[in-house]
Amino acid sequence: MNTPLDDLLKRRAEARLGGGQERIDKLHAQGRMTARERIDMLLDPGSFEEFDMFKTHRCHDFGMEKKIFPGDGVVTGYGTVDGRLVYVYAQDPTVLGGSLSETIAEKICKVMDLAIKNGAPVIGLNDSGGARIQEGIESLAGYSDIFLRNVMASGVIPQLSAIFGPCAGGAVYSPALTDFIAMVKNNSYMFLTGPKVVKAVTHEDVTVEELGGAAMHSSRSGVSDFAAESGLDCVNYIKKLLSYLPQNNAETPPVLPSQDPAERRAEELNTIIPQSTSEAYDMRAVILSSIDNRDFFEVKKDFAPNLIIGFARYDGKTVGIVANQPAHLSGVLDIDSSVKGARFVRFCDCFNIPVITFVDVPGFLPGTSQEYGGVIRNGAKILYAYAEATIPKVTVITRKAYGGAYCVMSSKHLRGDINYAWPCAEIAVMGARGAAEVLYGRKSQKTDDPAAYLQEKEQQYQDMVANPYVAARRGYVDDIIEPARTRFRIIKALGMLQNKRDSNPMKKHGNIPL
Ligand code: HXC
Repeated sequence: MNTPLDDLLKRRAEARLGGGQERIDKLHAQGRMTARERIDMLLDPGSFEEFDMFKTHRCHDFGMEKKIFPGDGVVTGYGTVDGRLVYVYAQDPTVLGGSLSETIAEKICKVMDLAIKNGAPVIGLNDSGGARIQEGIESLAGYSDIFLRNVMASGVIPQLSAIFGPCAGGAVYSPALTDFIAMVKNNSYMFLTGPKVVKAVTHEDVTVEELGGAAMHSSRSGVSDFAAESGLDCVNYIKKLLSYLPQNNAETPPVLPSQDPAERRAEELNTIIPQSTSEAYDMRAVILSSIDNRDFFEVKKDFAPNLIIGFARYDGKTVGIVANQPAHLSGVLDIDSSVKGARFVRFCDCFNIPVITFVDVPGFLPGTSQEYGGVIRNGAKILYAYAEATIPKVTVITRKAYGGAYCVMSSKHLRGDINYAWPCAEIAVMGARGAAEVLYGRKSQKTDDPAAYLQEKEQQYQDMVANPYVAARRGYVDDIIEPARTRFRIIKALGMLQNKRDSNPMKKHGNIPL
């Protein structure tokens, strides 16, 4: 005779199969994993505690009463990653394509509410065909309930999304509201409407990969922060990201013991700046030479590469790094890089992560495509983000800091706490050649040799303003430092700033130019 315990075990075994073995086999054949396999990869072994394993949908239309699966297309609960509490939900593509029902939304909202109350990150493992079509308004209501919680949790607990399969319709907006998105290359897609609808409406022929693949979202749209090689790689991105973050906005990030001496000099930085001011060098080398163990966790690597962002540690403490990249578009600021930088600085500010800014920027990118695209409105975002941020802000100008871009890049005037410059830094309203053209272009035409005249004026401008000492005399940079000692000077500054308290005027919220 079956005991109640036997019955429970049988029910559990049935629930663990989700949409059934046949669908699991199909998923495996596509190189994809089940929701439970994904959770197992993410969490510490044996740490997962599941909720609502027996919850089922309540729909009786379109023959749905015959399609009832215990757990209904999402696995939810909590566990630990590296011993730290996280809440998790994983959509199950074997149950009606992972589509979102009213009950699935209730399950997801339950873990989100617990995550907010208990101050721990929430991680969504996404693979869903969007709103469950048979349910209609209940499904849309469920999505809205999730979106509301995403917004309420924003800036309170870290919210991370991994995308493991096709995510369509409503399934993309919850991840879009979270802090970071990691996608699996060649197996995951995000789009509002799939290729068939695109063809019907705009007559475009486009594949799922072109329309919403990891490569596209990581390089063109900027929707995705990480493009992973596999499901396991994707989970590893999430785990590594978590290692840099505090549990919530009332805590500071974990500090790891550092084996890398704080006083370590980086001699190569004394010669990294090329002789010619227009020659490029790789800012990533500057970052790697100064941080702990050359371990840089770069975010949005292939999107707007003229600005580098990511996490690193100095003497074991988490920082966010923002750096112009002279090796791409001369490190110019444009629409995409401004938005990229702004969102990252705001994330760091939400979660008490100091920001180190390396500056080598010739200005904002001129031209009609930028102006038509709203570079004024979008460039203002990064300015706004730095100005409102109250976390410790340390800035190192390695070479150029020109024009509006000087103001923007964590300058003293935007409450930069410590602002250093390397000896070859050039801080000016614009490059010397441009300045000479504007100031003396017309006059040069009246001379015997306009080119020589302009060259002389260019040199004069360069000598007068394009060096760090004018700014140092005003106190706009706190010191001119030896490049090889950058690491030590940053660590000293961060130590001095570790109890920093700063605030903004009382307000409901600011009005960042969106
Ligand atoms: C109900 C769905 C479903 C959905 C898939 N299924 N999507 N059921 N609602 N949204 C079911 C299928 O009918 C099928 O059931 C099973 O899931 C597996 O689907 P397949 O198509 O066989 O799988 P696959 O080939 O892997 O394709 C997965 C997919 C595709 C790419 C997700 O199913 C798809 O394009 N679905 C529709 C996507 C979409 O347009 N969503 C937008 C919804 S509107 P059976 O029983 O045959 O196995 C929306 C608006 C919300 O989300 C807005 C909020 C802001």
